[in-house]
Amino acid sequence: MNIQVVLTIDELSSTLSVLKSKGKTIGFVPTMGALHEGHISLINKAKLVASVVVSSIYVNKSQFNESSDFDNYPRTLDQDIAKLNEADCNIVFVPSQQEMDAIPLYDSFDISEFDLYMEGKHRPGHFNGVANVVYRFLNIIQPDFAVFGEKDYMQCVLIKKLATTFFENTEIIIAVTKREKNGLAMSSRNTRLSPKSITNSLVLSQLMNQLKKDVSSFSDYADFKKWKSDIKTGLTGVEMEYFELVENGMIKPAEKINDKVSLRCCICAKVEGVRLIDNMLLN
Ligand code: PAJ
Repeated sequence: MNIQVVLTIDELSSTLSVLKSKGKTIGFVPTMGALHEGHISLINKAKLVASVVVSSIYVNKSQFNESSDFDNYPRTLDQDIAKLNEADCNIVFVPSQQEMDAIPLYDSFDISEFDLYMEGKHRPGHFNGVANVVYRFLNIIQPDFAVFGEKDYMQCVLIKKLATTFFENTEIIIAVTKREKNGLAMSSRNTRLSPKSITNSLVLSQLMNQLKKDVSSFSDYADFKKWKSDIKTGLTGVEMEYFELVENGMIKPAEKINDKVSLRCCICAKVEGVRLIDNMLLN
């Protein structure tokens, strides 16, 4: 196995300072493990731009607003390390909670707006937990590039803001969402879905594709609301949490709907108790 498995901040810092002194550029891909092809596509993206790729595996308790979700989160460390090794990832950082807690945190960073919409509204404290952990990683690694998945759209908006505020030397790269052939976005949580639930959950990508076709006929947000109320009746085994339309790059509902505005839809539903999120650029 070629990948270097690093457990402590000390070892990570000394390894990175040697590499940086040799002029190597660092690409960073944070994960919570249970790796699938979506995660590996991020590693591949990082390899295209950086000479050394560092990933992390850390199930960050502070971003789970339900302890049962944290407890049930799949943990497959040995397989994950093998997959990263196969993908030619150079270093994987697997810190304990104690190691992470030892890294200092920012004094102030206002993310209150993120708690008002979509993921933030439905998962109180989630984005605070994400911002904390990503800040800590970026702070100790100081990578040239950090790669995140478009699948977690609000997270991408948050991380870009975090990087603009604190890490001007780190370029944030957003990678497209990897999907199964049937359209379902790959997710570590998909392993908890039964075959029947997988079929039911396909409605998420189908609805977004339908909206992509219909959005050009909307003239305002009220048209979208009407469209949404018509479709909600046809859902089986799917408990919709939100289905929103935003201006691309923003997190609040779209105020203007016309050809000149780039729109994105964001969807979240519980299928057999498993919370699935997805989003799509519409025009
Ligand atoms: P996790 O859910 O493990 O995801 C790690 C990265 O993989 C994130 O940037 C996520 O957007 C991306 N990803 C997930 N599914 C994907 C897919 N189908 N296609 C492409 N990319 C995908 O997101 C987190 O962990 C955490 O919040 C983290 C950033 C690690 C902080 O704890």
